[in-house]
Amino acid sequence: MQIGSIGLDRGLTNYGDRDFARFLRRSFARSMGISPGLLSKPVVGIAMTPSGFNNCHRSMPELVEAVSRGVLAAGALPRPFPTVSLGEVFLNPTSMMYRNLMAMDTEEMIQAQPMDAVVLIGGCDKTVPAQLMGAASADLPAVQLVTGPMSTGRHRGQRLGACTDCRGFWAKYRAGTVDAEEIAEVEGRLSVTAGTCAVMGTASTMACIAEALGMSLPGTAAIPAVHSDRLVAAEESGRAAVRLIETKIRPSQVITQKSVENAIRVLMALSGSTNAIVHLTAIAGRLGIRIPPERFNQISDETPVLVDLKPVGQGYMEDFHAAGGMGALLRELKPLLHLDTLDIEGRTLAERLEEPAGWTDRAIIRSSSDPVSPVGGLVSLSGTLAPDGAIFKRAAATPELFESEGRAVVFTGLEDLSRRIDDPDLAVGANDILVLQNAGPHAAGMPEAGYLPIPKKLAQAGVKDMVRISDARMSGTAFGSIVLHVAPEAAIGGPLAAVRDGDRIRLSIRDKRVDLLVEPEEIARRMDGFTPPPAPTRGYKALYRRTVTQAPEGCDFDFLAAPAPSPASDR
Ligand code: FES
Ligand code: MG
Repeated sequence: MQIGSIGLDRGLTNYGDRDFARFLRRSFARSMGISPGLLSKPVVGIAMTPSGFNNCHRSMPELVEAVSRGVLAAGALPRPFPTVSLGEVFLNPTSMMYRNLMAMDTEEMIQAQPMDAVVLIGGCDKTVPAQLMGAASADLPAVQLVTGPMSTGRHRGQRLGACTDCRGFWAKYRAGTVDAEEIAEVEGRLSVTAGTCAVMGTASTMACIAEALGMSLPGTAAIPAVHSDRLVAAEESGRAAVRLIETKIRPSQVITQKSVENAIRVLMALSGSTNAIVHLTAIAGRLGIRIPPERFNQISDETPVLVDLKPVGQGYMEDFHAAGGMGALLRELKPLLHLDTLDIEGRTLAERLEEPAGWTDRAIIRSSSDPVSPVGGLVSLSGTLAPDGAIFKRAAATPELFESEGRAVVFTGLEDLSRRIDDPDLAVGANDILVLQNAGPHAAGMPEAGYLPIPKKLAQAGVKDMVRISDARMSGTAFGSIVLHVAPEAAIGGPLAAVRDGDRIRLSIRDKRVDLLVEPEEIARRMDGFTPPPAPTRGYKALYRRTVTQAPEGCDFDFLAAPAPSPASDR
């Protein structure tokens, strides 16, 4: 914030005649029909993200209206402005490629335009991470508001919600137990309201993480998109942004080493999306905060899974909200949390949790004495196949596969995978390990290709899960015994590139390792003469390829992350 100026005067360009610049800006603002009195108030920007390609943001207009109402009621001038919007399923080659674009857009528009605080409205998977990354770098007082989860649909007496049930029904259709007529019916019943996916996928995980960090108002993460309380939360977020102009609390005071660790605890207790690790790493990285894998695993081993939602458990986000939501979860996790973190309201977590808990539905949010699982949902792996790390969602995997060794069946890229996975002649058995190469950040923007389908002939024979390994991501709504985010990725010469059909691979969740059982000399021989896949030569994709970091660094652009602080500083 520029010292001594607020509202529309903020950041006035000064090419010699500052008064003329002010006169021009006010005159142009008058053309929007705003009264002079209101023009001299502080300004709250509203980063809005409606798009005809983003169903999850369908409710954006009414949310913007409600935030504006809150801003006006608190005595400031609301100014909505657009940024890039990312609708998960409509982007090619993958929404992940555009998260950093949206983060840059958000950061730059917050800084370039005259506002004293900002409300960020996002929802779909990549949008909240992008907004938090941009806000962390801009470091102007900010409130994160989410669009909220979808409500479920109904199909033949069963509740349906995107997108775990999308996958469940599609797997049955592939296996021949659901016919074409029924899958067509299901198509119209999976995503039936405004809002984000109805389960604890990436969008919901990131909404909960935003609240755990202290960047959203308490109790707002899980309110269904169509619930009237969602509009009340939006109005309150507008008021909160105006209060932030007074208190001057910035994202860098809220997103700290301690609040990031709290967010990891929440991620574990939710058994949340694997993608959230990449996003949280990127958000933290904007402020120089690092999460060592050892610390990540320590938190995972200490934190029980308490929330019983799909894709791992039973419930939907609407149940989580009705069960008490994040307030109930944070109270249950209290002994494990750093309580001296600060939120956007200027309260410590201890103060926030002093208020008595409301009623909690223990079928959905368990007590820590009766957890869904005694350990967290996600683990970080290392080993000769992933020297810089990989991720495994143990909560969504088959325990019998935790300690396994098998023969690799290798796909060299996305095209090879789609060409051969269902080939009846593919030499593959139920105990083999499927390996996908060249689907990491450099090669392909890191699409959600890590959920390799079970080869059709095995699916039809009743095989439901196999160990699958790749440098890709998977959807937060997916499940299976899947090793993801292998780093370094194949396209930059990681050992994943050296795997050949028939190699032995060993997975050990107990030891937190994934190893390629091939002699190092043989791996080196295979990698001799390695050539990376051709890189794009122009535009955003060329910038992406040149500067994107690997998954353990958050897949941010290397020039956007902040350097880690010196060990002495206590962030
Ligand atoms: Fe937007 Fe799932 S597609 S949250
Ligand atoms: Mg998703």
